[in-house]
Amino acid sequence: MVEEVKGKIGVFDSGYGGLTILKELIAELPEYEYIYLGDNARAPYGTKSYDVVFQYTLEAVEFLFEKGCELIILACNTASAKALRTIQQTILPKKYPGKRVLGVIRPSTEKVGLLTKTNKIGVLATEGTVKSDSYKIEIAKFNQGVAVFQLACPLWVPLIENKKWNTVHGRSLIKEDISTLLRLDSEIDTIILACTHFPLIIDYLLEIIPRHITILGQGDIVAKSLSVYLDKHNWLSMKLNKEGKITFYTSEDPLLFKKFTESEFLEFFKDIKVLKF
Ligand code: DGL
Repeated sequence: MVEEVKGKIGVFDSGYGGLTILKELIAELPEYEYIYLGDNARAPYGTKSYDVVFQYTLEAVEFLFEKGCELIILACNTASAKALRTIQQTILPKKYPGKRVLGVIRPSTEKVGLLTKTNKIGVLATEGTVKSDSYKIEIAKFNQGVAVFQLACPLWVPLIENKKWNTVHGRSLIKEDISTLLRLDSEIDTIILACTHFPLIIDYLLEIIPRHITILGQGDIVAKSLSVYLDKHNWLSMKLNKEGKITFYTSEDPLLFKKFTESEFLEFFKDIKVLKF
C-alpha cells in the first residue's frame, strides 16, 4: 500500500508581512501545499519582549505542526531573531524530531555582501530585530569588512497593518526614518528591508530612497534558498503534499484578513479561504 503524503509547509508571521514571502514561495515552488498563519491580533511583535515573542512563536509553530506541517518558515524577522534558535535547538529535538523550522535572516545575510560596493549596508527592521543584533552578527559571518547601520522603525508595522501608512502623517514619518538611516553614513549603497512588512510599501520606498541605493527584499531570496534546501533534503520534500493548495489562518477577524490579502495581492490570492487561529 502506498502511504498517503500529507505534509504541508507552514508560513508564519505576526501579521500580513509574511505574505510577501508566501507570494514568492508560491512563484518558486507552486507544487507544495501551504498553510499561512498571521497573528494579526497580537501584532506588532517588534516592540514586544524576547519572552513574549518566543511564547507567541512557539504557540504558532505548535499549531502549524498540529495542522500537519512538516516544515515551517518563520517569515518574520522578529520571530526569527528571537525564537528560531531556541526552537531549533531545544524544542524540535525533544518534541518534533523529523520536523524543521527555518528563518529568514540567514538567507538574506548570505547574499547582501555581493550587492554592496562601498561595504556599507543599511538595515531597516523592527526594534526587536535591531536590538537582537542578528543582522550585524550574521552579516559579519559571511562578509568581512562590511559595516552595518541599523535603524528600528517601530511605527511602520502598525501603520501598515492598519492601512494608515499612506496618510500625510504616515508618509512623512517613513520619510524621516529613511533620512535618519542615510544620515548614519553617506556611503550606504544597499538597504535590507529586514522586516517582511516593509515590501508592502515598496512603491513609496522607491520614491523616497535615492536611486543609487539597492533595496533588498527577502521574498525572492528566501524562496530560492528553500528550493535549494528541499533539493538537498529530499527525505523532507518526499513527506510534502504536492497539490498546490493554500489555507490561511489569522488570530484577527478572518473577513478583515481576506479583504486585506485580496486587495494587496490581487494577482496572487483570489477567493481565499481564511480560518480563525
Ligand atoms: N513582519 C515581521 C518582521 O519581519 C514582524 C513585524 C512586527 O510584528 O513587528 O519582523
